[in-house]
Amino acid sequence: MSPLSITRTLPADATAAALRADVSQGLAGTPKQLPPKWFYDARGSELFDEITTLPEYYPTRAEREILLAVADRIAAATRARTLIELGSGSSDKTRHLLRALTDLDTYLPIDVSESALRAAGEALLAEHPGLTVHALVADFQQGIALPPTPGPRLLAFLGGTIGNLLPDERADFLRSVHDLLSPGDALLLGTDLVKDEATLVAAYDDARGVTAAFNKNVLEVINRELGGDFDPADFDHVALWNPECEWIEMRLRAREELTVKIPGIDLAVPFAAGEEVRTEVSAKFRKDRVQAELHSAGLELTEWWTDSAGRFALSLAVRN
Ligand code: AVJ
Repeated sequence: MSPLSITRTLPADATAAALRADVSQGLAGTPKQLPPKWFYDARGSELFDEITTLPEYYPTRAEREILLAVADRIAAATRARTLIELGSGSSDKTRHLLRALTDLDTYLPIDVSESALRAAGEALLAEHPGLTVHALVADFQQGIALPPTPGPRLLAFLGGTIGNLLPDERADFLRSVHDLLSPGDALLLGTDLVKDEATLVAAYDDARGVTAAFNKNVLEVINRELGGDFDPADFDHVALWNPECEWIEMRLRAREELTVKIPGIDLAVPFAAGEEVRTEVSAKFRKDRVQAELHSAGLELTEWWTDSAGRFALSLAVRN
């Protein structure tokens, strides 16, 4: 077997079926909404990588600062032989972990984007020739079956992506992480933290408009996959802080009254002028809430690290 294998855990048409279902439900109802996972086709993944380099978008840099500082402590605490990474994307930050995890045998990146998995897997193998890389094209919200790999296992969910889940989904997700792991295995979780509104909003509404293009990319995905006739220029990018829920919302706001046709799902979607589609929730956290939610899922927080500016946190939790 080649050291890089890529497994699709979903039937080839499952992604297409999930997109159709999400778009039908999300655009036929009120208020309109779309799940953020559909941003990430090849173009969307590229735009997200660009976002991570923007001056306003601090989470990636803050998390990297923490990882650099504590990778050795994570390795010593977990002695992981398998690293599972959910939403691995370009696996950029994973490099710091891989360098530190000296007992590592298998890296198991999991992502919805096969193009990102292939590029990242090839790059990592060039740096770690002895490693087995087994990539899974999967949607962790649909349930994942892991191939047998040596323990102890460390499951990393970095970048603050857990913030994309709504509270109920988050509880289900943490429970499924618990169920995937064996006693003594660990979870490494990245969470963006609550902070002043101006900093948060700027991170999701950058001056160069890269985040706006990323947001509108979901319309291009619908056009390509479902034959939609969205004109992205008909919509404005909106980022706002919801203080009750402590999350950022991204929305697309129709500039004027219009109707979009989506033949692939036999749908005509009327928009009133100013009507919005919520395209993403990105929740921000406090330590108490992270600890309590982990605990409810049978995961005990053992370490909590933040960057020097206190913007972002990495949690290490152990499965009971
Ligand atoms: C990849 C989900 C962590 O919520 O900050 C970046 C995605 N959206 N800019 C985030 C995103 C807008 C990002 N996550």
